[in-house]
Amino acid sequence: KKYDPTIFIIFGGTGDLTKRKIMPALYNLFLDNWLPEEFAIIGTSSSKMSNEKYIAELFSAVNEFSRTGKATKADWEKFSSHITFQDADITNASAFKPFGKLIDKYKKEWKTPPSIIYYCAVAPHFFCSIAENINKAKLDNDPKTTRIIIEKPFGSDLESAKDLNKKLLSIFEENQIYRIDHYLGKEVVQNIMAFRFANSIMEPLWNRNHVEHVQISVTEQIGIGSRGNYFDNAGILRDMIQNHLLQLLCIIAMEPPTNFNADEVRNRKVDVLKALRRIESGKIETMSARGQYSSGWIEGEEVVGYREEEKVKPHSNTETYAALKLHVDNWRWQGVPFYLRTGKRLFKSASIITIQFKEIPHNIFVSENTGPPKQNRLVISIQPDMAIRLQLQSKVPGLEMNLNTVDMVFDYAGSKKTDSPEAYETLLLDAITGDQTLFMRADQVEAAWEFIMPILNYWEKNTDQNFPNYAADSWGPENAEALIAKDGFHWFNLP
Ligand code: BG6
Repeated sequence: KKYDPTIFIIFGGTGDLTKRKIMPALYNLFLDNWLPEEFAIIGTSSSKMSNEKYIAELFSAVNEFSRTGKATKADWEKFSSHITFQDADITNASAFKPFGKLIDKYKKEWKTPPSIIYYCAVAPHFFCSIAENINKAKLDNDPKTTRIIIEKPFGSDLESAKDLNKKLLSIFEENQIYRIDHYLGKEVVQNIMAFRFANSIMEPLWNRNHVEHVQISVTEQIGIGSRGNYFDNAGILRDMIQNHLLQLLCIIAMEPPTNFNADEVRNRKVDVLKALRRIESGKIETMSARGQYSSGWIEGEEVVGYREEEKVKPHSNTETYAALKLHVDNWRWQGVPFYLRTGKRLFKSASIITIQFKEIPHNIFVSENTGPPKQNRLVISIQPDMAIRLQLQSKVPGLEMNLNTVDMVFDYAGSKKTDSPEAYETLLLDAITGDQTLFMRADQVEAAWEFIMPILNYWEKNTDQNFPNYAADSWGPENAEALIAKDGFHWFNLP
């Protein structure tokens, strides 16, 4: 496919995100011939550095983090000939002038007007000054060809998110702003839309008549690593639930869009956020659970508790685990509970959505040894395994009528994991082509904050939780088990 020439200007060009995600993604897009023939990547950071040194740093990052493994010298040379380093103090508008010169240089060279993508891969308190300085320095800002990518976190509460939206929207139009939630770029997450809306057998089942409850579970084995500074002020409700888990919920619960346009799809997602039953402060204890990890052993290695992590306050009450019970108040989902959970330092890393269907209305397979047949489940496994499995009951081959559970599986096993594009590849290509479907619109971000705020406020005020309350390498705190057990269910922990 032929795309317009494109210039990426990456603020935070020497940062972790650029090295781990953005550059490997651009490199793989390049290898698979998705990038336009004419493209330029301008990496920027505050300290001076030669082009050679910058490219050498990126080379080792790509070798370490690219899904396709080490880059060959020939491929890397071709790719890196498009990269330039430009130092700039991003808080100072006059430091943005060199970007204008570089843009002009490429424009002259290429003859076709390029798309320009400003990528804010920096700490959130720089987002505004970057936008303001692009404006002050009169860098290109044509609504048709200029885009700005904003990384997470988008605000730290409703007020700050509104404020950031207001400032960005005073400089850019909404259709120029690409707010990232990288979960939306994940292969299996994208497939949920196809699964739901390209098959006729799903829709009749996808509602309160057939679904008993839904679980959205994103467990992580890693701790907070070197991000103590950020995480201790954020907590997992902000870090994971406000964005990733609520977005997964939207894709599961949304009404069928009438077409696949970015705004139509995003309208249907916003509907879900608006339909979420607000949790009043009096109900928060019964509708949620939180936790913080203590030390433990993970795969033979001792790991410290959260309060002992670098840059975490020694008596911190920040939660590293959260579980919520939610209701979507509309016709489709009335009475169907949605359970969300996520946490750090848990027994296993897995992102899984499970839709459990209702029990059969009458059991004819009565046996002394077994209970009623197990309920059907649809298990959408996002990572590390990529699969969608429908769990059905079936007769065990043999002379007796015994039942067991079998899976009808659609998995990605036939192709190697490295064959699937990473979320950032999808999202960057969408930014190049100008497709906002998988990016967060202003009202989506705000609606998610609006729902989260009462919980956030309540948790911040009521900190008496006897933290730490779960051991590293466990499945989380007991109160999270109790949250779901009181409804007669349990968390599905895949082996
Ligand atoms: C990020 C969070 O947005 O998502 C991290 O800030 C988390 O805390 C990460 O570890 C998880 O992403 P993934 O793609 O590894 O599941």
